[in-house]
Amino acid sequence: MRITFCCTDTNAEPWLMGLRQALPQAQVELWVEGAAPADYAVVWAPPQRFVDEQTQLKAIFNIGAGVDALMKLQLPAGVPVVRLDDAGMSVQMAEYVCHEVIRHFREFDLYSAAAEAGQWSYRKPRRRDDFPVGVMGLGVLGQRVARALQSFEFAVHGWSRSPKSVPGVRTYAGPEGFLDFLRASRFLVCLLPLTPQTQGIMNHASLSQLQPGGYVINVARGAHLVDADLLALLDSGPLAGATLDVFRTEPLPADHPFWAHPRIHITPHTSARTLRDHSIAQIAGKIGQLADGVALASIAGVVDLPMGY
Ligand code: NAP
Ligand code: GLV
Repeated sequence: MRITFCCTDTNAEPWLMGLRQALPQAQVELWVEGAAPADYAVVWAPPQRFVDEQTQLKAIFNIGAGVDALMKLQLPAGVPVVRLDDAGMSVQMAEYVCHEVIRHFREFDLYSAAAEAGQWSYRKPRRRDDFPVGVMGLGVLGQRVARALQSFEFAVHGWSRSPKSVPGVRTYAGPEGFLDFLRASRFLVCLLPLTPQTQGIMNHASLSQLQPGGYVINVARGAHLVDADLLALLDSGPLAGATLDVFRTEPLPADHPFWAHPRIHITPHTSARTLRDHSIAQIAGKIGQLADGVALASIAGVVDLPMGY
């Protein structure tokens, strides 16, 4: 069995070593133009010429949860794409989102500023019920985040494409449920895949529906958010702040107004990192299953190509 590795912005060597260790029977090689055809590919944002050349692939494994970069390519018909299914990401995402929700709710930035000024000063406790959280996307990551928020007794609302039942979460589905979902939320957490349907979903019209003092947490993709609309709503009053982990251009350009905005918190696309050892174990396990003839339908993380996620 041949495995080809083609991941942009990734230090290939430890991945190659890990995959070789996990699949000793396989020949695992870094892709170069003109390389021999492989059976399986391990990729992150590969170039079009990679898929054009690798014409014998039985499956493509993406070393991230989001497949939007792959969906921009002309993929060969009939070749399944398998994304990471959690692989240690959901606990990181739960930490990140809870940290940001709690930081804002408990006004910890103001306490930090007071401490820096040498002031021992209390703030009036805020009512948790006044800070319902809306989670857009109730998949692997969204459901884990919803559960984590519930453990801190926040009211959690969730929105997905198809109807869902998630214990303790008030759920809404489809375009018909979107307005009610937004109006029920003060925090808005984006954990949607980036598809033509979700691109620009956080815009002036939708963000204006959040409860007063709304707070946006984007941990999905930069193109879910219309940057100028967020800035306008922060500066004109209805939104209290935002935490952004993902951006339309990454790294975020030095002159982007987000950097200097006092109520925007920025992190460098780090809310849930690909954990190499977890990911190699997951991918190697699935390659083994496919090679043993296990049905694709029983493998978690197979992308619905027409849906784009
Ligand atoms: P997932 O399991 O596929 O879940 C996606 C959820 O979004 C599902 O609940 C799906 O609804 C919903 N959805 C999709 N299209 C929708 C639409 N048009 N309207 C309403 N809901 C829609 O994905 P995941 O593993 O949770 O990951 C979510 C995203 O997080 C990834 O695509 C990636 O972009 C992002 N991510 C970011 C980081 C980071 O470090 N910042 C790390 C990992 C992932 P159904 O359940 O009805 O299908
Ligand atoms: C990271 O953004 C991922 O999609 O895994």
